[in-house]
Amino acid sequence: MKIGIIGAGQIGSTVGKLWVEAGHDVRFASRHAEELKPLVSKLGKRASAGTPADAAKFGDVVMMTLPVKAIPDLARDLAPLLSGKVVLDTGNAYENRDGAVAGEASRHPQGSAGWAAAMFPGAHWVKAFNTVYFKTLASEAHRKGDKLGIPLAGDDREAVDIAAQLVRDAGFDPVLVGPLARGKEFEPGTKPYNSGMSGTELRKLLE
Ligand SMILES: NC(=O)c1ccc[n+]([C@@H]2O[C@H](COP(=O)([O-])OP(=O)(O)OC[C@H]3O[C@@H](n4cnc5c(N)ncnc54)[C@H](OP(=O)(O)O)[C@@H]3O)[C@@H](O)[C@H]2O)c1
Repeated sequence: MKIGIIGAGQIGSTVGKLWVEAGHDVRFASRHAEELKPLVSKLGKRASAGTPADAAKFGDVVMMTLPVKAIPDLARDLAPLLSGKVVLDTGNAYENRDGAVAGEASRHPQGSAGWAAAMFPGAHWVKAFNTVYFKTLASEAHRKGDKLGIPLAGDDREAVDIAAQLVRDAGFDPVLVGPLARGKEFEPGTKPYNSGMSGTELRKLLE
């Protein structure tokens, strides 16, 4: 599958590497694409670098993995490019990083993912990969036994199923929680957040 990753930071570069290793083609995006050369040359021919618009056009699936305060500006440029695509949103709203935007996103009736999705009409939005610290994702991927759980929430069942397959490809256990609004149940401050729970444990709590 062709995957665009907008924000090749801690989460974007970690999950993107796992997807390249699983055989996907990944375009990592930065506002300074030249700075991604070391990352993509290390990952080989399935990895490439470009601008956020390049990654949005390239991906059948696009991961948005940025500080939430960056979302409104990006939406102005990228919303038309993402209409009709599956978008995985890893965002968490933190006031110390995101300022007043964090409160706005957290207070949205559908949580911070619903707040972001509303700026991208026609995109099939799925909240994913927001609960686990990036170093844990790197160390626990494909572990034996009960795999680390990744909760997913989204309104479009087909998009959620695609997200679930990508979670499996990265080496984790997808937990299908429900519609996008239920993403509030695994935001910062909730029990599943940063808990390191396995898929089995998360299912007991959330399904
Ligand atoms: N770190 C974690 O362990 C973790 C775990 C779960 C969820 N999350 C959440 O996932 C999101 C990404 O976290 P992260 O820690 O991976 O972030 P990060 O390491 O700070 O990287 C985010 C990337 O976003 C890009 N960016 C920042 N401001 C931007 C703007 N205004 N416009 C366009 N691009 C911008 C930057 O790329 P350039 O400067 O190169 O353009 C940066 O590399 C956050 O919402 C975070 O709360 C993080």
